[in-house]
Amino acid sequence: MESVQAIKQRFGIIGNDPKLNRALEKAIQVAPTDISVLVTGESGVGKESVPKIIHQLSHRKHGKYIAVNCGAIPEGTIDSELFGHEKGAFTGATQTRSGYFEVADGGTIFLDEVGELPLTTQVRLLRVLENGEFIKVGSSKVQKTNVRIVAATNINMFEAIKKEKFREDLYYRLSTVEINLPALRDRKEDIHLLFRKFASDFALKYKMPTVKLTDDAVNLLLKYRWNGNIRQLRNVAEQISVLEQNRTINGVTLQQYLPNAGNNLPAVINTSKSESDFSNEREILYKVLFDMKSDLNDLKKLTLELMKKGSVSDVQEEHQHLIQKIYGDNEDEDYKTETVVDNLEVLSIPEHSEVQETSNPMDDKYHFAEEIEEEETLSLHDKELELIKKSLERHKGKRKLAAAELGISERTLYRKIKQFDL
Ligand SMILES: Nc1ncnc2c1ncn2[C@@H]1O[C@H](COP(=O)(O)OP(=O)(O)OP(=O)(O)O)[C@@H](O)[C@H]1O
Ligand SMILES: [Mg+2]
Repeated sequence: MESVQAIKQRFGIIGNDPKLNRALEKAIQVAPTDISVLVTGESGVGKESVPKIIHQLSHRKHGKYIAVNCGAIPEGTIDSELFGHEKGAFTGATQTRSGYFEVADGGTIFLDEVGELPLTTQVRLLRVLENGEFIKVGSSKVQKTNVRIVAATNINMFEAIKKEKFREDLYYRLSTVEINLPALRDRKEDIHLLFRKFASDFALKYKMPTVKLTDDAVNLLLKYRWNGNIRQLRNVAEQISVLEQNRTINGVTLQQYLPNAGNNLPAVINTSKSESDFSNEREILYKVLFDMKSDLNDLKKLTLELMKKGSVSDVQEEHQHLIQKIYGDNEDEDYKTETVVDNLEVLSIPEHSEVQETSNPMDDKYHFAEEIEEEETLSLHDKELELIKKSLERHKGKRKLAAAELGISERTLYRKIKQFDL
């Protein structure tokens, strides 16, 4: 059996926290069996590595591994995605199609955000889990499949069961073994380690010296709540690595990158209303300064390009994104209409061409379901809207969490909420 240490190396998992080690040990132990596993933990804690480890250490490793983001597939198509459909089952079903459960026969299916599955799909899933049987949409023929299921969720499943959004019997079938990944704030020893790793990765990527934290910055890092967990830490490390000219980062600088950092620190003086108002004001000022700095860097880059090229139209064409990023908020500018395009990049939505390159998407060992079907039905604009909506729903309207999850600034998210009229 491979050691926890070897697994961490193989899957690029950083950290030595005992809770993390315990979770990985459990994954290693359960992998050779066919037991269903439910991976739980807050958003951004690293749940997606666990099903990959389980698949790779199982006798199914040469079979297919399909990752399905249940939260991203529209309710109307999810049954057909998972279980397939017969020709003529619904308008547009021009031919019979296999679903993931058929394609992954002999392999593993990772059902991410399983708490989002519609109740009718939950019934079908329960049947597969119980006896490996499923029926294509529009068919009456029972088919068999041999698939190992690993699911993940960042919601409280007991709450979902109480609200009758999730079937209790399905929950118990899915969570024969539960693997919980700790929140970053509960892995104090690992926070700085992770930051150093990300800082060194981004230094390499952007060909700049590695940023280093002063003691007060490390203190702040350890006290911060990290609601977006490792995903948020990684984003912060990337932003700092790209934007800060001075590569030694102190607490004041770091605080600019941490939304609500003030609120996470122990109160030094009593928190009367006026004090908290002041801290909010300070935060807003930090944000404005941060945005100004970023704009200034972009402007510097543009000016340099103009000086080098000497032709305005060349620079305009080549740096459309940058120009639009700087002037995007200005109602009078023509660039405004292009904002969506700019932010699609930020949200890393796969481009059409990437998906079309694969003649049969099912051939991919690791493929996200939403990348297949939605491409046909939704425009990129709609997809972005959908992503934002889902994220806001998941975080009950909390913009900070949603922004951290989407990997964009709160300001960008706010702009989008206004833009899409959400
Ligand atoms: N221990 C770790 N070491 C290095 N990187 C990690 C670690 N854990 C997570 N990451 C990175 O953090 C990011 C978020 O992880 P992941 O996507 O697995 O989160 P998640 O738990 O699935 O969150 P969500 O519930 O929002 O989907 C990824 O970029 C991942 O590579
Ligand atoms: Mg995930």
